[in-house]
Amino acid sequence: MWRGILIETKEAILTRRSVRSYEDRTLPAELLEEILEAGTYAPSAVNYQPWYFVAVQSQEAMEKLTGIMGRVSRKIEPSLQERFPTHPEVVAETTGFIRRLGNAPVCILAFALKPDYPKTAETIAQSVAAGIENMLLAATDRGLGSCWLTAPVETGMAAELRDTFAPGKGELLAVVTLGYAAQTPKAPPRKAGRYTII
Ligand SMILES: Cc1cc2nc3c(=O)[nH]c(=O)nc-3n(C[C@H](O)[C@H](O)[C@H](O)COP(=O)(O)O)c2cc1C
Repeated sequence: MWRGILIETKEAILTRRSVRSYEDRTLPAELLEEILEAGTYAPSAVNYQPWYFVAVQSQEAMEKLTGIMGRVSRKIEPSLQERFPTHPEVVAETTGFIRRLGNAPVCILAFALKPDYPKTAETIAQSVAAGIENMLLAATDRGLGSCWLTAPVETGMAAELRDTFAPGKGELLAVVTLGYAAQTPKAPPRKAGRYTII
């Protein structure tokens, strides 16, 4: 599965950034499969492996996706204006990214399958989130950029995305853009005091 490690895990953790603009370059199929496979190697509660990932890549599927994302962008704008009242440029950049997905050649939709797991939704969501983070780190390892988005969920568009791309596959938890970065964002400073050792 893996063709050798290009960079150290620590470096992948520290250099992974949310990338919101991508080059117009397609991803080799085996690279995409490697990243999806990395997602499935995450830990999961009692090993349910409750994730289902849909990689949107074809022009037709991507057009459907950006059509829905245009509506997500319009719906989320008021809350962004409230959050960043003195930074209209942040609002414009974020809504623009959501609308066009930064021109990403691939977008992974991450679902939580919903059979009768005797586990809470939070536990299942944690397992899927572990899979998402694995994919982000694998993408960084392979020199790709990515961005984790929950805007479609926050704007109530998750069910429409599920019905469009993966009917019957549970609940959409997040969308992840993937591709060759056209920008090199700086790491937002990390807040101090967010862990303790007792
Ligand atoms: C659960 C989750 C949801 C996120 N949703 C969005 C989103 O909807 N739109 C977006 O542009 N970025 C989104 N992000 C990316 C964050 O804004 C980003 O991780 C944060 O600003 C820190 O920057 P970094 O990823 O470069 O370290 C999300 C990240 C996480 C983990």
